[in-house]
Parts: sequence; C-alpha cells; structure tokens
Amino acid sequence: MCGLIGYIGNRPAQPILIDCLRRLEYRGYDSCGLALLGDGIQVYKDQGKVAELQRGLSLNNERTGIGHTRWATHGRPSGINAHPHLDCAGQIALVHNGIVTNFLRLRQQLTQEGHIFSSETDTEVIVHLIEKYYRGDLAEAVATALGQIEGSYAIIALQTGPKKLVVARNESPLLIGLGDGENFAASDAAAILDYTDRVVYLEDGDIGVITDREITIANNGHEVSRQVQQVPWTQEEAQKTGYEHFMLKEIHEQPRVIQNTLRGYLSAIEPVAPEIAANGDIAQVLLLGCGTSYHAALVGKYLLEKLAKVAVRAELASEFNYHDTLLSKTWAIGITQSGETADTLMALRKAKSLGCKTLVITNVVGSSATRIADEAFYIKAGPEISVAATKSFIAQLVAFYLLALAWARIDTSSRERLMAELRLLPNKVQQLLDGQDDIAELGEYLSRYDNAFFIGRGINLPVALEGALKLKEISYIHAEGCAAGELKHGSFALLNPHTPVVAIGAQDNTYDTLLTNIKEIKTRGTPVIALAAEGDREIDKLVDHVIWIPGTTPLLSPVVNSVALQLLAYYAARKRGYPIDQPRNLAKSVTVE
Ligand code: AGP
Repeated sequence: MCGLIGYIGNRPAQPILIDCLRRLEYRGYDSCGLALLGDGIQVYKDQGKVAELQRGLSLNNERTGIGHTRWATHGRPSGINAHPHLDCAGQIALVHNGIVTNFLRLRQQLTQEGHIFSSETDTEVIVHLIEKYYRGDLAEAVATALGQIEGSYAIIALQTGPKKLVVARNESPLLIGLGDGENFAASDAAAILDYTDRVVYLEDGDIGVITDREITIANNGHEVSRQVQQVPWTQEEAQKTGYEHFMLKEIHEQPRVIQNTLRGYLSAIEPVAPEIAANGDIAQVLLLGCGTSYHAALVGKYLLEKLAKVAVRAELASEFNYHDTLLSKTWAIGITQSGETADTLMALRKAKSLGCKTLVITNVVGSSATRIADEAFYIKAGPEISVAATKSFIAQLVAFYLLALAWARIDTSSRERLMAELRLLPNKVQQLLDGQDDIAELGEYLSRYDNAFFIGRGINLPVALEGALKLKEISYIHAEGCAAGELKHGSFALLNPHTPVVAIGAQDNTYDTLLTNIKEIKTRGTPVIALAAEGDREIDKLVDHVIWIPGTTPLLSPVVNSVALQLLAYYAARKRGYPIDQPRNLAKSVTVE
C-alpha cells in the first residue's frame, strides 16, 4: 500500500526522490516524506500530497536518500506518523511498507528500556530495534531487529556515516534498480522507469546492502545472487501522455491491451499450463481474488463452466483464508493485477498447502504471487496507475477467454466462431470509445444522484457488480450491484424516482427476463439506463436512456459492457470534481489483510 524509494548515486537525491515519489503516489497518498543523508540526516515529512511536500523543500545537494508515500494503517495521517522514522539518536532513518503485528509488545518493551517514541505507527518499533542492536554494522543490526518482527515488511534504511542503503523484505514488494554510478530501491518498478529498467526483485528474507557501485544480498546469513531482470514496461506507458487522468488513458488503452493479451496466445490456443488443462485429474477449479479481480473470477467461473464443462468455485480471497474447505483434485487460480494483494497471496499459499496446483493470472512480472504459484499467466496490460482497475480487468477477462478456449469441450466450429469474435474485440471496444460522448453525458446525469443500482443476469451479473464498484470507488455515489432477479427480494424497497438503475443486457437466454425486470422497476417511477446491443429496438421503448453497445456474441459482452460502465463512472466522477486517480481512503495495491 505504501510506496518506498531509495536513491544512492552521483546526482542530487532530492529531485530524484520527489520524482519517484510522485510516481509512487498511487500506492498511498495520505502523507509522505523523505530523509537525505549528508553529515547528518535531514527529514522532511508531512500530511498531504508529494506536491505539497515539494513546495516546502529548499535545494539540497545530498546524493543519498529515502522516501515514502503512506496509506495509514497504524495512526492517523499526520506529519508525525509520516515516514521516514528516526531512532532516538537521529542517526538511523527508515521507511517501511507492511504491518508489524507484534508492535504493541515490542513498543512496551522498548519503552521500558528507555526508547522514546514519537509516532503512533507500528513502523517506529523497527527503527528503535535497529538502534538497540546496532554494533557498528547496519545490515547486521537490521537482520537482528527483523528477527524480532512478526508481520510483513519491505524496508529501506540509512544511517549517518558511510553512504549506503540497507533494504529487506518479507511479504511486501521491494526491488533494487541498477543504474550507472547510481542505484535505487523501490516498491515497484514503475517508480524508477525514468532512470533504469534493470531490476533485481528481492525474495522474502533477503537483506541487501546498496552503494552507488554495488549491491550485495544475503538470505539467512548467506550471500545469494538474484537474477537481473528487464522491466517489460516503457516510460511512456507509465505516464499520462496528454490525458486528463490515468484512468481515462488506461480506458483508452484497452483495444491495444486486448490485442497484447491475445497476441501469442490465441494462435496457439494452448495458452497456459496445457498439461494442467488436459489433465483429467482435475475435478474442480478454485478462483481466488479480491475486488475487481474477484469480479473477473466470477466471469471466469461462468466461462470455464460453460466451455470447459468443469466445476468452478469463485471465492473472495479474504474469506477463503478463514474457513475450512475441502479441496481434492483442485486447480487453484489466483487473480491479482498487482500480484501483491495480501489476501490473495494468503489464499494461494493456503491452496498450495492443501495440495492444489496453483496458477496466478497477474500483470506484474516478478510480483510476490508469481513466486508463490506454480505457474503465471501474464495479462500484459502494462502499468496501471489509476487506483480504479480498468485495463487490467479487461485483460483478466481475456485471459479467462483464452483459458476456457484452451480447455474447451466444444465442437471445432463453435470454437472457431468464438476465436474469430475474440479477434474482433479490440475493434468493438474502439468503436465504443469513439462514440463515448453519449456515455459522458449520461455519466454527468448520473452524478446528480446519491444512490444507484446496477443489475445484470448470467455472465453480466459480475459486470453489474464491477460497474457498481467502479462508480462508488471514484464518484463516491453509493452504488449496489445486484442480480436482476434478486432485486424483488428486498432491494426493491429502495427504488424511487431518485435512485437510477443501470441494467446490463445481452442477447442471450437472460434477455427476456431482464426486460420483465426492467418493466417492474419502471412501475416505481425509477429512471433506468440500459446497456443494449446496437439495433435492439425493444429495450429502447422501455427505458429512459440507452447506452448502445457494439454487437458481439453474448459470451464476450462483458468486455464491451464493462468498458461502457468504466466510462460512465469516469464521467460521473469527473463532473463531481473528485480526484479520480487517487480516490479518498484507497490505495492501488492492498498489501495488508
Ligand atoms: C478496483 O478498482 C480496486 N482498486 C480493487 O478492488 C482491486 O481490484 C483489488 O484491491 C484487487 O487488487 P489486485 O488485482 O491487485 O489483487
């Protein structure tokens, strides 16, 4: 959730840290700070955004420093709780992402020993522990201190004296970026792409020492070598390139993202783990994810059951971790854009420990999930900076189409028809984007309301859930996604002329019943916006507004429908004037349970 950056090299650190912090801001943005190492350590930190922090800085030429953007977990957002944190003597500074679960006990103990705490954070115990164990070698003190810590962490520490950074990770992402006469540490690669695309991903238990010339990494007291990898993303992909918001840019990238995800997989149609797909030993598939990724899993369940004729369970990763479950002959698939969502990582570990084969569908090469799962399917969506997931969701759906097709027990002509429709998807999405003015108008219309329902049936029920999530996440309009047939079982009580319903249609076996549901809703004077395939003349007569969707086969309709709902949410939020890319209280990757 928090963003970490460290720099050591031959250039002034301050502007580089600020630049990287801006790029990390999507990970957490309630406060931020940096520490610069000269003869002593200078710390600048406050509540608020990086731009505000930058305004308060004067020129500083130090060439070593660390920085942090925070998403508060322990202690409210404030200047005091912002990172970096210092030890009592002001000789060691530290930034941290993760949660120290035993911090209260450690804090009590350290306080009794004379350490004085200034913040309410769990992080501060780490820097005091390092101080306690320091005997002349920072990396050794870090190793001893971390031995006392329960929980998750990625940390970067520096200390007065010889210039170096000490980094360590356990269950929170951290990488080292390799430059020329300079090196970096960061919680994700997108932050440092302007400076280098050569990175080393740290493993759990790694402790690294970074100078401007070299890096050394040890695990369990033994030096280890970790592979240098090239980040498969360009700088341009990680920038707004003229769009008002990252979200709008990412929505517009979707035709290309679909092509990228299809490319290389579709022709072979043996996309992932063919041996697993072909393995008659699999009795069920278990899909695990959170938020938008869970909604992708629900679409995936529908596809795999329909095309591969296999039993599928889709579970919220956060719930799966807390119930007893029977998993025999199960293939567990984690769906996570970031590859760092704590609940999904835990769920994958649990599935593995219960004997399941595991796959992760993810966007981030080298992410924690890829190290837990037996195999990884990369959705190739490029960096997604906006907190609201858009292109990664669409790419996850495409991954499920590919997976279901690879495993499909359908006749050749049905398979070929579906493949042909898949190839047309980028054009269909482009058509929708080209005609988005009407959706923009409807988004502005929706912005006037405080509540909304999204209804769908069959494969478009998850689309309704996702549409509601998108709207509430960025426009703060309360929205509920609901199975169209369930509305009558309670939520109907809330229908009135001030609560619009967005109905998501597809020309499949659910269509007629959806029309009936719409008629029932209209009897309550409730405004209805329908998503309907171009040329549908029936729905037009029933509803107040129609978003026309370029026609595709019903099985692929979730893709085009979802893009329309992303735009609807975007324009509603834009009209309301909210910070679309960084909605209040949220962070891009939720690395705590
Ligand atoms: C979606 O817009 C959200 N920001 C959120 O629901 C997200 O999808 C969820 O936190 C899961 O993230 P992941 O895909 O990185 O695991």
